[in-house]
Amino acid sequence: MTPNFPKLPQINTELPGPKAKALIARDHKYVSTSYTRGYPLVAEEAFGAIVKDPDGNYFLDFAAGIAVVSTGHCHPEVVEAIKGQADKLIHISGTDFYYTSQVQAAERVARHVHGKGTKRVFFGNSGAEAIECAIKLAKYHTGRKRFIAFYGAFHGRTTGALSLTASKAAQKERFFPLMDGVTHVPYGYCYRCPYGQTYGSCKMECVSFIEDTVFKTTVPPGEVAAIFVEPIQGEGGYVVPPAEFIQGLRKICDKHGILLVADEVQCGVGRTGKFSAMAHFGVSADITCLAKGIASGMPLSACVASDHIMNWPPGSHASTFGGNPLSCAAAEVTLRLVDEQLAANAASQGEFLMGKLKDMMGRYEVIGDVRGKGLMIGVEIVKDRVGREKNKELRDEVVEECFRSGLLLLGAGSNTLRICPPLIIDREQAMVFLDILESSLKKAMNRLGYKGFPF
Ligand SMILES: Cc1ncc(COP(=O)(O)O)c(C=O)c1O
Repeated sequence: MTPNFPKLPQINTELPGPKAKALIARDHKYVSTSYTRGYPLVAEEAFGAIVKDPDGNYFLDFAAGIAVVSTGHCHPEVVEAIKGQADKLIHISGTDFYYTSQVQAAERVARHVHGKGTKRVFFGNSGAEAIECAIKLAKYHTGRKRFIAFYGAFHGRTTGALSLTASKAAQKERFFPLMDGVTHVPYGYCYRCPYGQTYGSCKMECVSFIEDTVFKTTVPPGEVAAIFVEPIQGEGGYVVPPAEFIQGLRKICDKHGILLVADEVQCGVGRTGKFSAMAHFGVSADITCLAKGIASGMPLSACVASDHIMNWPPGSHASTFGGNPLSCAAAEVTLRLVDEQLAANAASQGEFLMGKLKDMMGRYEVIGDVRGKGLMIGVEIVKDRVGREKNKELRDEVVEECFRSGLLLLGAGSNTLRICPPLIIDREQAMVFLDILESSLKKAMNRLGYKGFPF
């Protein structure tokens, strides 16, 4: 811990404080208006699971820069690796030349991704770039041009990735035409089953619809290059599908020579308690996309495939900055720490939080569902548990109230609280998170005039 950096939140001024306000005004003048800032946090310094603003307020970070800082903010070993690499080599471009940190990171990533056989890695700078790589590789390898993706999916905002995304209409508005050939189908979202079924008594209509309807009516399976799936949906609301859903997709792909692409940009790299979220479902993907947590906040993504798939010729794909030496050095340390301690910590802290959040659900009718794996947990806020009507207003109010109490949270989907802290949190921080969340929920319900409130 750096000197004078607390482990728990401390709010000392009104929010935003005067220095934060001044910076936000400058931002509003010069920075693109397309960003979606939910509340006015200005980050000045950060360490571990704590973010400090310029007015001296300390926040407990359960957002982790959108599930990115897996080893916590400025982990000393990550910082040391970046500094050490900066002294030696900042850029040379893996497109043209060879260098140690890229090879080391590739060896580690290839060994970690779930599935048998030797794998190869293409490094990019962002999640969307890993997805673009997967789109092109799937086309190249199969010689096919069509794709299946899911409603609620988020795969990024570049044109190819955006074509697969089906999260919020605003992300696509005025950007058509996008890449041709994508068909969206419902995800295995049991809490809101699009087929009106109940898990346990259903016939896995979310899988059979692809085979029985899509392939028989609109999309010949022999023209499909890949099915893109988030093993746990992220932006769509932290939705954990049943294992049979992912296993069913694997079977469809095997039957028709289609590649299964796992978008593990948000759920990968130990966040769910295992390196690959696919490992929870007992099957592996043909292509895996990683980003976010892979390098503790340095820009890096990886598209990983077996060597018989990633055997395209020189010139077919490349990137000037992808696999930057500093990012690869950060990834090398990050992956080691995830291996040695952090995936296990994510599993145990996640289990504790899931248990406590389920208890909390018993106390509040407005918590409709608590789901997740490891430190990827979604809490779905509803009007009441019987009707399950989505409650965006209360969800947003809870997120803001948490901020005012020193807890950083994000939403996911239209009405879910997204819980994705750094993987280093300890039990004390988990308990403080639970206290702030519950008191913020009460305050938010009070403010919005819920029955039975004020307490
Ligand atoms: C599952 C998933 N895929 C892809 C992306 C795109 O990543 P990036 O914003 O780094 O391009 C995201 C970003 O949130 C994501 O959650």
